[in-house]
Amino acid sequence: MSAVTFSKRFGYMEKDCDFDGTLRIADQSINYLGYVGQMPWLDFYLDKNPIIRLGPPNLSTATRIAAESLFPRLEGIDPNYNPKQPDFLQSSYSSARAIPYLEAVARETMRMHPAISMAMERIVPKEGLVLPDGSVVPTGTLVGMNPYILGRNKEVYGTDADEFIPDRWLQQDGETDEKYQLRMRLWNAADLTFGSGLRICLGRNISQMEIYKVVATVIMRFEMEWFHRVDGGLTCRLKRRTERT
Ligand code: HEM
Repeated sequence: MSAVTFSKRFGYMEKDCDFDGTLRIADQSINYLGYVGQMPWLDFYLDKNPIIRLGPPNLSTATRIAAESLFPRLEGIDPNYNPKQPDFLQSSYSSARAIPYLEAVARETMRMHPAISMAMERIVPKEGLVLPDGSVVPTGTLVGMNPYILGRNKEVYGTDADEFIPDRWLQQDGETDEKYQLRMRLWNAADLTFGSGLRICLGRNISQMEIYKVVATVIMRFEMEWFHRVDGGLTCRLKRRTERT
């Protein structure tokens, strides 16, 4: 993301550690947002507390890097900007996107584990809200939909909606093109991983590009030797491939 945004890497991969504590702070912020997202009133007592701020540390590193990049770029003296030098992700987005199973795995992963797994809240406008069963939700009511719950809707994805089955995103044996396209239209409409409508995620395309390119590049360059869970995280050992298979 930093290479796309600033033409400059943050440097964690090169230094092989969280040298300035940003990743630790990001983890703390995400934990905070997870709790406060469910109980928004807590934010007034913690992060927005006018007497003493009790929120997570702020991500000043990202702001500093943004400022360090912005000013030289505006002055035309940015040493990191060279349009002729490609980034380290050698596979092109279109070639990564053309691997149907990669797309199926990515979509299945996001269906079961959407990054935003909490209700995205809205206030019912003055016209009110009529639900498909005819019941009316009054003006001013706080409503929300949770992509994690919607992703497991058995009426949409079938009785095995709780299982991780990437193949479900592929055209099935005996399924006509027309039926497959219709099914994908329905599934795309039901997918709230990146939100929907007016407030749809503005970073959707860049995130998808990143996911497809990074996963394709990692699999192309490394063999995964083993995984195990440590303190809620996942450790994975990568071995550089010697020859492409
Ligand atoms: C896999 C990565 C990402 C996921 C799953 C994701 C998901 C979402 C979701 C669900 C929303 C809608 C929230 C709502 O309706 O209440 C949203 C909004 C938004 N996202 Fe993302 N996002 C991702 C990455 C990004 C990135 C990388 C950026 C910026 C570069 C970004 C920028 C935004 C912005 C600006 C909005 C607010 C749009 C608006 O309210 O008009 N997102 N995102």
